[in-house]
Amino acid sequence: MWDKLRAHFETVKTRRFETLVDDARAADFSTSLGDIHFDYAKTNIDADARRELFALLDATGVAAKRDAMFAGAVINETEGRAVLHTALRNLDGGPVMVEGVDVMPDVLATLARMEDFAKAVRGGTFQGQGGMITDVVNIGIGGSDLGPAMGVLALAAYHDGPRCHFVSNVDPADISQVLGKCDPATTLVIVASKTFTTIETMTNARTAKAWMGQTVSDPAAQFAALSTSETGTADFGIPADRVFGFEDWVGGRYSVWGPIGLSMMLAIGGDAFRAFLRGAQDMDRHFQAAEWHENLPALLAVVGIWHNQICGHATRAVLPYDNNLSRLPAYLQQLEMESNGKGVSMDGEDLPVHSGPVVWGEPGTNGQHAFYQLIHQGTRVVPCEFLVAARGHDDALHHQHQLLVANCLAQSEALMKGRDLDEARSKVADKFAGDELERQAKHRVFPGNRPSVTLAYATLDPHTLGAIIALYEHRVFVEGVVLGLNSYDQWGVELGKELATALQPIVEGADASGKDGSTAALVKFLHAHDL
Ligand code: F6P
Repeated sequence: MWDKLRAHFETVKTRRFETLVDDARAADFSTSLGDIHFDYAKTNIDADARRELFALLDATGVAAKRDAMFAGAVINETEGRAVLHTALRNLDGGPVMVEGVDVMPDVLATLARMEDFAKAVRGGTFQGQGGMITDVVNIGIGGSDLGPAMGVLALAAYHDGPRCHFVSNVDPADISQVLGKCDPATTLVIVASKTFTTIETMTNARTAKAWMGQTVSDPAAQFAALSTSETGTADFGIPADRVFGFEDWVGGRYSVWGPIGLSMMLAIGGDAFRAFLRGAQDMDRHFQAAEWHENLPALLAVVGIWHNQICGHATRAVLPYDNNLSRLPAYLQQLEMESNGKGVSMDGEDLPVHSGPVVWGEPGTNGQHAFYQLIHQGTRVVPCEFLVAARGHDDALHHQHQLLVANCLAQSEALMKGRDLDEARSKVADKFAGDELERQAKHRVFPGNRPSVTLAYATLDPHTLGAIIALYEHRVFVEGVVLGLNSYDQWGVELGKELATALQPIVEGADASGKDGSTAALVKFLHAHDL
C-alpha cells in the first residue's frame, strides 16, 4: 500500500498541480459539514492518490478501530485504558459502557455540577472573601492548560464572565505576573491536573495558596480542583464539593470537554459551553457515519499522510486567519505531536514510516511578515493549513475582516501558482537591464506548486470551535491508526521528568561529579552566576 502510494508520487511529483484546479476539482476535492467547508484542491492529490489513501484507511482498519474507540474498548493498550473523551460531549447519545458500566450518568452529573458552580460564580452567589469573583486563575500545564487557554481566547467574543488567566510554567515569572494583576480577595484559583502530581502545577498551586493566605483567612475556600485524584485534591485541602472529577479514560490533551474546560464555562457560561460540546458531538457523528470521500477527519488525515509520509514533508504549518485562534497552533502541537510523535508501533516494532509531523504556526497576517518568506521561497516545502471565517465579530470593521480574508486566499493562491522567471523579469525590467536584470529577477521567482488546504467556516462561535477541535482530534486518531502507533500514551515525556528530579539537588548545590561534563559545566556556570 505504502509502496503503491510512493510509486504514484514518483510519477506525479514534478507535475504542477495548478493545472488540475478547475471548477470540477474544486467541487470534488472539497466537502462541507454544516457551515464548515474543507478544501484540499490546492494539493497534488489526484483521484488515484486519494483512492490509494482511502485503501490505506481500510487496510489498517480505521473504521473498526474508530467504532471500538467510541464503544469504550481499551485502545490505549500501553496504559490499559479506554479512550472516551467523546463521552464527555455525548449530550443526548445513548449509554457508553466501560467494563460493563454506563459512564454517561456520571459524565452528565459532573457537567450539571460544573454548570451550577459556573452559574454561582458568574451570578455572585459563590463569592470570594472580598466579594464577587472578578478573576479566575487556572493553574495547569499541557492539556490542563492549552485546551481552556486556547478556548477562552477563541471565544473572546462570547466572554461575559470573570477575567480568566492561565498559569502553566514553573518559571516563577509566569505566576508572579498573573497574580500581580489579581486581588486575592476576589480571585478563584482552579488547580487543573489530571494526576494532581505534576510538579509544575503543584508548585504553582502552593505558591498561589500562600499568596492568597497573605490576604484572606481561608484560602482553600477560593480554590477548586479539576482532577481524577480524590486523595490528591483532598490532601491539598480542597473540599469535595469544589472538586470536579473525571476518569482516566480522558487523556490530558483530549480533556477540554469535561472539568478541565471549567474556566471556559466560567468565561462564556453553561449554555455556550454546551454549544461547544454540541459542535464536537456533531463532528463525532459525522466521523462515525460519513463515507471517506466526505468525511472531514478522514480527509484531513489522508492529506496529512500524503504530505508527511509520502511526499516527505517533515512539518506542517497551521495558519489561522482568525486572531482569536492564536493559541490553536500551540494546542495542536500538543494534540498532534504528543499523540503521534512515536517511533514504535503498538506491537513495539520500529515504525516503517516516519511518525507524525512537526506542527507549528502563527495567525495570519502576522506570520506573513515573519516566516512566510521561507514558506514561499525556502528550499523545503511546508504544507500549510489555513483557517478562515466568513464573518468576524465586529460588524463595524467588516471591511477590515474582508482584508484579512483576501490575505488568506492570496497566500494559498501564491503558494500554488508561484511566479516564474519571465514574470519576475517583467516586474523589474523598468529598473534593471542585462545581467543585473537576470540576477535581480531570480530573487523574485516563487517556485509555487506548494500545497495547502483551507478550512473555511461561517464564524468562530462555540459550536464551530467544538466541531473544529473534534475534527483535529479525529484526524490525529486516523493518522495514528494508519501509522500503527498508540496515539494515547506519552512515554516520551518521562525521561526528562526523571532527570529533572535527579538534577534538583545538584542545582541546589549537591556534588555534580556523577553528571556528564557538559551538564556539570553548565551547573558550574550557573552557580558562578548566583543560581
Ligand atoms: O507530561 C505530559 C503530560 O502528562 C500531558 O500529557 C498532560 O496534558 C500534562 O502532562 C499535564 O498533566 P496533568 O493534567 O496530570 O497535570
